[in-house]
Amino acid sequence: MLTLGINYSQMHDSSACIVREGELLFAVAEERISRLKHDARFPQLAIQACLDFAKVSASQIDEVCFGWQPAGPVYRHDLKLYATGQWPLSSMNVLNSSRHFLSMWHQQSGAVPFRRIFGSGKTRFRYVDHHLAHALSAYAYSGFDDAAVVVMDGRGAWEATSIWHGHAGRLDHVLTLDWPDSLGLFYAQFTGFLGFVPNSDEWKVMGLAPYGQPGIDLSSYINPNDAPYRVFTRNLIGDSLGYGHFASRLGPPRQAESEISDQHKNIAFAVQDACENAMMSVVKLALAKTKSKNLCLAGGVALNSKANGKIVASGLIENIFVQPAASDDGVALGAALAPCLDGNGRLPSKPMRHGYWGPSFEDNAIEKNLLTYKIRYTKLSDPAGTAAQLLSAGKILGWFQGRMEFGPRALGSRSILADPRDPEMNAKVNNAVKFREWWRPFAPSFKKEAAPEYLESAYDSPFMILTAQVRPEKRAIIPSVTHVDGSARPQTVEREINPLYYRLIDEFGKITGVPVIMNTSFNLRGEAIVHTPTDALRTFFSSGMDALVIGGFLVEK
Ligand SMILES: [Fe+2]
Repeated sequence: MLTLGINYSQMHDSSACIVREGELLFAVAEERISRLKHDARFPQLAIQACLDFAKVSASQIDEVCFGWQPAGPVYRHDLKLYATGQWPLSSMNVLNSSRHFLSMWHQQSGAVPFRRIFGSGKTRFRYVDHHLAHALSAYAYSGFDDAAVVVMDGRGAWEATSIWHGHAGRLDHVLTLDWPDSLGLFYAQFTGFLGFVPNSDEWKVMGLAPYGQPGIDLSSYINPNDAPYRVFTRNLIGDSLGYGHFASRLGPPRQAESEISDQHKNIAFAVQDACENAMMSVVKLALAKTKSKNLCLAGGVALNSKANGKIVASGLIENIFVQPAASDDGVALGAALAPCLDGNGRLPSKPMRHGYWGPSFEDNAIEKNLLTYKIRYTKLSDPAGTAAQLLSAGKILGWFQGRMEFGPRALGSRSILADPRDPEMNAKVNNAVKFREWWRPFAPSFKKEAAPEYLESAYDSPFMILTAQVRPEKRAIIPSVTHVDGSARPQTVEREINPLYYRLIDEFGKITGVPVIMNTSFNLRGEAIVHTPTDALRTFFSSGMDALVIGGFLVEK
């Protein structure tokens, strides 16, 4: 059986994946190919890439599975909220809901554009409940037989947070908290209030939080311990657009790109703290309801690596799997597996150990590009060894190898790499390439064996989705990847999983005595991570990177 999984909601992060007999073959987000960040359009390029990879035509697909319910239930839930006063009844809000409904209804939630672009064939369409698709994307790829499964996101159709019990390849629903009682909404509103883009820049608030002090009272917006939590939506969203309603309690909203004050830092601290407590509360409830010691997380809120790290450090669980594509791009992975549950069937149980599910480019294709653009290059006999030499000499390096990552993190395929020992490297990479806010930390890639020497937990962290504390005596050794509170967001790299990247870190360790690399995504600020060699070359030459190791070739400035 061949299935396509698709995320298409017109909200954000359209994506597609292809699964054969329950085994994931390929996955890619539309934004990487279209170059439009968080692209929410119908993922026609991603679907085509899936078909090309599997060398099949659309008519050979048995079922196309969307990670959303049809448009009707979403709209009905919105209307119920307006009627019951749970969401402000304004003409703009109703217009937006209606416009979204009509657009998705006309498109049969994606079936119409699919048929138009790829031909109708014998394809069947399936619409999987959004939180079920998230839950499947976590449980089915965890490798656990028994697990508590928690989904927390901005919103599904009617869902905001849900708990599931995975056991013996089946997934039972335990409970759902309806939208708008949503941790994603809570965090997004304060992200907007602090002058960042909601549902996109939550990372920035998380990175800013450790610079703040306790003391801001958010009890009128959230109770993080109300079995499991309660968000006070009306206080959170006010009656109109904008964030002016926060002013009486918290001061005026911060203007984008303006100075960050102590008050802003303190608000970020309080928001992160409340979110961590609420997530912990949901997890405790899930563990109590399922009596499991294994935990699976998905949904955009599960990208909160700081909170995930606290859950791990709490000792409440024995094992954790956080779906690395925790945001809506990942529902494609879950939706594509939904047919496995038909007729009392069971899900596959193959743990996801890497994120390299996207397209790759052979050396001859890369070389063709280099020749076409008349770029001087060197052919390398040992790309990893050369890269390690350059890094140890303080160079900022573009690293383009193998299959592209699926999910928001660069994990050694489309990465910018640098020396983590240099305390100035954070500023150097920011000035040369990323132009990011000064407070956002960069993450380290460790040789897996070296992680316990440097970290207090998260020794098995292949996806940079858990934070851990760097051992105090090691913080001065890797200062550019240690955050102000002593934490880091590690990637642990295994030789068997990514031999080339492992070797790079290993060689760097042999030269410097520190088997750790600073790893950030290969993109400029505001752009999607590079996909093709052309994207990589364009980004390389429009930034301050010193060298690029692309496949078996070296390009230097
Ligand atoms: Fe979602």
